[in-house]
Amino acid sequence: MSVADLGTAQCDLAASTLHGSLLDPALESMNFLNEIASRYPAAISFASGRPTEAYFDVALIHQYLDVFCRYLRDDLGYSQAELNRTLFQYGRTKGIINELIARYLLTDEGITADPDSIIVTVGYQEAMFAVARALRADERDVLLSVWPAYVGMTGAARLADLPVWPVRSGPEGVDLDDLCGQVARARKAGRRARACYVMPDFANPSGVSMTVTTRRALLATAAREGLLLIEDNPYGTFHSGDHLPTLKALDTSRQVIYLGSFAKTGFPGARIGYAVADQRVSDGAGGVSPLADYLSRIKSMVTVNTPPVAQAVVGGKLLGCEFSLAKANERETAAYLSNMRQLLAGLASRFPAPADGQRQVTWNTPTGGFFAVVTLPFPADDELMELSAREYGVLWTPMSHFYAGEGGSHQARLACSQLTPELIDSGLDRFAALVTDRLAGCA
Ligand SMILES: Cc1ncc(COP(=O)(O)O)c(C=O)c1O
Repeated sequence: MSVADLGTAQCDLAASTLHGSLLDPALESMNFLNEIASRYPAAISFASGRPTEAYFDVALIHQYLDVFCRYLRDDLGYSQAELNRTLFQYGRTKGIINELIARYLLTDEGITADPDSIIVTVGYQEAMFAVARALRADERDVLLSVWPAYVGMTGAARLADLPVWPVRSGPEGVDLDDLCGQVARARKAGRRARACYVMPDFANPSGVSMTVTTRRALLATAAREGLLLIEDNPYGTFHSGDHLPTLKALDTSRQVIYLGSFAKTGFPGARIGYAVADQRVSDGAGGVSPLADYLSRIKSMVTVNTPPVAQAVVGGKLLGCEFSLAKANERETAAYLSNMRQLLAGLASRFPAPADGQRQVTWNTPTGGFFAVVTLPFPADDELMELSAREYGVLWTPMSHFYAGEGGSHQARLACSQLTPELIDSGLDRFAALVTDRLAGCA
């Protein structure tokens, strides 16, 4: 045996000796979907919730950067050395565009946020991880979440050893009785429900939105139960004129930790997200600071600070659109809404109601966002998705991925954000062929 072989043998590791999250399906989910997508590159994808690439233009990145530099120089009075330092050096952990994000939140969402309560993160993902890490003090802590849930959230909670307990969504977007039941169950078991994760606007994956009445009732329930709410809102901008107030805009008692991302309203390549965490945390010695400061301590040991160059680009975009990403995204929103209408009409024409009105294939009808959910009369599992990719050239996401394997077995999530009208039509033809063949027992 050579010395090299000896070294390899000694370094072998069993996955079971690594952190438990590494074998968790939540962390495998993205890999599985990406792997299938890469094996069948010609397949039309209803799986990806990526933003449209129609308006990507490298020149815009230069333009945003210029606008931000001008702002530092002309509005904030930075010298050239200060400007250089801001972009080239390590930066403030909490971020450098907090003020600009606060102005955007006020302009588009009616949220009044103190810039000091904002932490700019590497995507939503880092914000969610920091919140989960902070709320998980010991093994008694659990996070509640409306189910089905975004895998980015369940994965981040898993990394932080914070168990996630499901709360039914129902047609309202949250079943408040079930929420109270889970809080009571936690109490009875000596556990602490620290917060509930919700997505009131065009949720990923369900596409469901909450009415204003439900939003207010949720806030009141959470206040009664002493529960924080974690609001995730990447899709709220893409509405059809029925923009509803976010929970954070309705929040008068610092009950809501608001998580934002510029992945869809800006572009994902910037990897810029943020948290508004204005909860007052007392240190036991008379000091009080916003939760954002504590999240910042976690961030300082994960990514040190969010790349200033990426923040500058997003900051330039915010400055350039006078802080209204709703306005800046008018073309994108129109495309997403048109795609959604086409998707829903395409499903209706390919799966018409039979004479008795009892459809075998049903779907929900979101009025915005990126996602709709189709319910099938047979299992829509990973195996069928593979077959769909291989034999029919169409990709979609089995909803079971968003239920940690305990639900959604007959459902598929269809995303239409990144497709052209032609591809939506062809993709639906292929999807309908798969469904028809499976119903006939020949797929
Ligand atoms: C529910 C949800 N939250 C947040 C995000 C954005 O995450 P990030 O900013 O890490 O790209 C996404 C993107 O897919 C999402 O679907």
